[in-house]
Amino acid sequence: METAKLLFNGSEYELPVTIGTESEIAVSIKALRAQSGIITLDSGYGNTGSCESTITFINGEKGILRYRGYPIQELAEHSTFPEVCYLLVYGSLPTKDVLDSFIHDLTYHSLIHEDMKKFFEGYPPSAPPMSVLTTIAASLSAYYPLDENEEQLQLNIIRLLAKLKTIAAFAYKKSIGQAYIYPRNDLSYAGDFLHMMYAVPSEQYVVNPVIEKALDLLLILHADHEQNCSTSTVRMVGSSDANLFSSISAGISALSGPLHGGANVAVIDMLQMIKNDGGNIKKYVDLAKDKDSGFRLMGFGHRVYKNFDPRAEILKEVNKQVLAELGKGDYPLLDLAMELEKIALEDEYFVERKLFPNVDFYSGILYRAMGIPTNMFTVMFALGRLPGWIAQWLEMRNDPGKRIYRPRQIYTGERERPVIPLSQR
Ligand code: CMC
Repeated sequence: METAKLLFNGSEYELPVTIGTESEIAVSIKALRAQSGIITLDSGYGNTGSCESTITFINGEKGILRYRGYPIQELAEHSTFPEVCYLLVYGSLPTKDVLDSFIHDLTYHSLIHEDMKKFFEGYPPSAPPMSVLTTIAASLSAYYPLDENEEQLQLNIIRLLAKLKTIAAFAYKKSIGQAYIYPRNDLSYAGDFLHMMYAVPSEQYVVNPVIEKALDLLLILHADHEQNCSTSTVRMVGSSDANLFSSISAGISALSGPLHGGANVAVIDMLQMIKNDGGNIKKYVDLAKDKDSGFRLMGFGHRVYKNFDPRAEILKEVNKQVLAELGKGDYPLLDLAMELEKIALEDEYFVERKLFPNVDFYSGILYRAMGIPTNMFTVMFALGRLPGWIAQWLEMRNDPGKRIYRPRQIYTGERERPVIPLSQR
């Protein structure tokens, strides 16, 4: 076994090295504190491997993303979202029979308990669908037996995959004051979601196949992304043996932030702001370069991808096709986005820092063109990321070396001092 050596204060510590199947190297510091009293400090965990995982491989320098070994480009071309769900959660691509049975299960578990509809009534009409999704996902644990045995756990996985889209659509209907539309078993996963969002009881709704296909693709592209903020949250919460529904709800909360899943909303807001301000892109590029401005180009930059985001490359092309097919070829925000991309990619500041458009840059524009309202963008991201969260939660739970997540810290606060009684302060 290879080892690394750490020299500190005249002592030498030997640290084991772990090498992944794609030759990634990690120095294990598991025993470092016990041996030396030293811990490592890595705020934001930018250089910390929190687990060994067989699910998703990313090479940020080369722009590679693979689920269970399959390149994202090939999955995007040849598979559907339910196939990718199966792949992530169970580890292999399904045969036709297995897929049919999986889709049957996803379909027949999509209704939620009737009593849960009362939850939606309790929210104010202004409640963001993402907040509603988070809380109702957590409350599933009050309705379904917890993961006490393998059979229940497997059923809960199916329930969650099947019901989250119903909850998401109901949350949207609540926000616009329309009747909840129940799932339909004859539609695809993406088609059923669109139907629950857009159908009304008084009219027949026909799913647009272009939008259905684009949504399926968007879900595939978001399905997993190794140890990002929300996935690490799911693993962290689950590491205390919290149940699946609660762990996923925590992941949805983590995803809601504008630096993570909320970025696609921020992209549209930013493009709209630039447009309303006369379309002066250079002004905003300059603002993003000025550290004192507090303004960043939303949809640019990534913690891991430092050359290009393969999901963004796929979406950039699909955006053009979908917009052409939907007859929105002159969609003004897309033109603005393309121009912004061009200017930023030629700008030294962005080139030097390897800041490229990420998936959110294009997904926001595509959602908007598909007629998805802005307050549902992050909800769509959550639906896509769900199988990844489940797969990662399962992997964490089944790891024989599993321990509760409990990082350490370097304390920089006051040293010990006496409490002065209130009357003397
Ligand atoms: N606009 C302007 N400058 C930026 C941007 C940006 N969007 N992103 C990073 N920088 C600068 C940053 O100021 C820093 O400059 P310097 O080295 O001079 O101090 C340098 O680039 C490195 O930035 P960082 O903040 O250390 O990078 P990070 O890895 O911590 O942050 C990020 C990654 C995605 C949070 C950040 O790039 C960002 O805030 N982007 C905008 C928000 C966004 O699009 N988020 C979606 C992420 S992708 C979706 C997902 O996978 O979850």
